[in-house]
Amino acid sequence: MKPPPTKPWILDLTPYPPGKPIEEVEREYGVRDSVKLASNENSLGPSPKAIEAMRAAAADVHYYPDGGAFYLRRALAERLGVPDDWLMFGNGSNELIELLVRAFVFEHDEAVVAEHAFVIYRMAVQAQGGRTPTVAARDYGHDLEAMAAAITPATRVVFLANPNNPTGTVFLAEEWRRFLEAIPPRVLVVMDEAYAEYVTDAEYPDSIAAARAGRPVVVLRTFSKIYGLAGLRIGYAVASPEILDVMNRLRAPFNVNLLAQRAALAALDDSSHLERTREMNAAGMRLLSEGLSALGVGFVPSSANFLLVRVGDVDAVNEGLLRRGVIVRPVGVYGLPEHVRVTIGSAEENQRFLEALAAVLGRTSGGDVAV
Ligand SMILES: Cc1ncc(COP(=O)(O)O)c(C=O)c1O
Repeated sequence: MKPPPTKPWILDLTPYPPGKPIEEVEREYGVRDSVKLASNENSLGPSPKAIEAMRAAAADVHYYPDGGAFYLRRALAERLGVPDDWLMFGNGSNELIELLVRAFVFEHDEAVVAEHAFVIYRMAVQAQGGRTPTVAARDYGHDLEAMAAAITPATRVVFLANPNNPTGTVFLAEEWRRFLEAIPPRVLVVMDEAYAEYVTDAEYPDSIAAARAGRPVVVLRTFSKIYGLAGLRIGYAVASPEILDVMNRLRAPFNVNLLAQRAALAALDDSSHLERTREMNAAGMRLLSEGLSALGVGFVPSSANFLLVRVGDVDAVNEGLLRRGVIVRPVGVYGLPEHVRVTIGSAEENQRFLEALAAVLGRTSGGDVAV
């Protein structure tokens, strides 16, 4: 049946291409024991405390969840040092990006994004009939000065990802301070910090402090990455109650499910799981950096739990990796046709990737290191 009329910009949208699920790869390629390093998930899995909390909560799922996420809100507010009404929860931080755009960006409006930025910003804005002027990257990262200069009277939002996905790049406090000074206060800054908990740089900006100081900043975080709860879909926004009030008007009731709320609350309390994850990531980052350098394969230094790796012929390399049961993410959709993004996994998974890549590239060491 022919669909009813819609908007041309909706027909121009291409659905988001997610990482291939393990089952699909194993079915298609006839492989077993494959490893998925394609979606920046936590290879250690969820916190054991979160698993326990979900088990205990399973018998309650005939009830709707708490629409206001009272207990999680209270615990997180205390953790972050913000009042309870400075938080909003979403079905993944992805939902919060969409709510933000639906609340503040309309037909003909602009949202400034960076080249190689997380594609969901562009898709959400396009779905509203808005435009995303895209500012050239500098060394794969955001050029904040150029992004501030790209603001026009039509600009409603600027999207910043820190660290950025898929490049892993960060910008630091001084650059952030200059950016905030350069932009008009009517423009909302979305600071997407999905990987913040992995960053070790002491100069990483305190964006929540900026929001608390009255800057027009919305900070987005998630339980999908370091907390290992991607399958539950839960993220949060930190912003002034006035901003959140507008977004909240568009929020579906019970948007964050009961298991997600209970698991996130338990995960928040498991600092040792976080610590182990950070250690695994640091060790994996070292192993992969050394291994890639030894193979003569270039990559972008990363502050997150993944690496952007330049493999050249992505189709051939990706196919070769899949045949060996290693799933990574091609990132052509991010304007990076020669790169793949590889999540830092467990020691064993990282080794599997390096060995598979060496076999696919047909070399064991040497060659040019080029990013
Ligand atoms: C930069 C960035 N923001 C937001 C998200 C969305 O995460 P989620 O919806 O799982 O919270 C991701 C996930 O890949 C991401 O990389």
